[in-house]
Amino acid sequence: MYTVPFNQFALTGNEINYIQQAIGSEKISGDGLFSLRCQLLLEQQLQANKILLTSSGTAALEMAAILADIKPGDEVIMPSYTFVSTANAFVMRGATCVFVDIRPDTQNINEQLIEQAINAKTVAIVPVHYAGVSCAMDVILALAKKYKLLVIEDAAHGLYASYKGQALGTLGDIGCFSFHETKNYSCGEGGAIVINNPKFSERAEIIREKGTDRSKFFRGEVDKYTWQDIGSSYLMSDLQAAFLLANLEQAETINTQRRAIWSYYYQQLEDLSHKGLLELPFVPADCQHNGHLFYLKIPSIHLREQLIAFLKDKKIQTVFHYLPLHDTPMGRRHGKFIGSDVYTLQASEQLLRLPLYYALSIDVARYVTDAIHTFFQQTGLDE
Ligand SMILES: Cc1ncc(COP(=O)(O)O)c(C=O)c1O
Repeated sequence: MYTVPFNQFALTGNEINYIQQAIGSEKISGDGLFSLRCQLLLEQQLQANKILLTSSGTAALEMAAILADIKPGDEVIMPSYTFVSTANAFVMRGATCVFVDIRPDTQNINEQLIEQAINAKTVAIVPVHYAGVSCAMDVILALAKKYKLLVIEDAAHGLYASYKGQALGTLGDIGCFSFHETKNYSCGEGGAIVINNPKFSERAEIIREKGTDRSKFFRGEVDKYTWQDIGSSYLMSDLQAAFLLANLEQAETINTQRRAIWSYYYQQLEDLSHKGLLELPFVPADCQHNGHLFYLKIPSIHLREQLIAFLKDKKIQTVFHYLPLHDTPMGRRHGKFIGSDVYTLQASEQLLRLPLYYALSIDVARYVTDAIHTFFQQTGLDE
């Protein structure tokens, strides 16, 4: 239906070949050859201590909540402008989500508002690096140190983006990535957990293997494996890891192309932003983004609906993003908003994401930006 879809997963040429190799290896369950290759590659690229592939970004967050030993009554600080899994992972362990407003420039948690949300029940801060642009990690890490809190980065959008030169996902105690098909590098469904704090290394392996020490058994460190802890089956199949490896090996090419489209959109739409007709994304000087999302902020929800419909007519698919979690049935039951919601609902009503994927050409990107210009001319807003 759409000539320009919002998203297409990246295909780099080696996916089928690697999947065939995985089949030939006769081991397609978790922690096969391709899983180990992906983990090693990621650890090298990100200079990370330990990375384990998981079945999804959601699974990585659930593992993080178990590792953090979240218990009923504990509080976890996070933005309300995020995906449901950021919150669910902790609510499943009995925590209350403490929502804090976002910054209007990056859509990330406002680091200046976190301290007022900390109390004796607070266990962790969960910064979400929206659109692959880092949260203000210096401030967040300093608060965590001051109050002895864990930092669990939801870096679902953030693979190969960095903060002051350090890869997102490697800054807190634990980092979580997603390889869902909407992400820059994917395998359909998938994720990874980054264990930066070595005290979690051994338990992470156990939780991911249904609560057993099977990983040690496979390494020949124990002669049988047994039930040691709670856990689940959080591994990724090696068939998916084979697909993922093909994507990860071309990470630089994919990243360069996505950033080029991002920059093209930015340049082409800057005039509309100068005229105050829309807002463009902001990337702080100490952040290197990864071209994960390109969004506009349109002054009113009504105008945004008109723009979506106009672009749909031109067969261009654009989509808004999160609905504030605090204002949902589960958010009301298991969360509280500290301070006031000045920018969360606003982002939810104003933000619109443009098509952005590896195979998108600059010609097609021009078609998108031309259509946006035409829209503002036809509505009479851009004279
Ligand atoms: C911020 C954020 N966290 C977590 C997730 C969950 O990742 P997954 O879909 O791989 O479970 C998503 C998914 O889109 C996300 O956007």
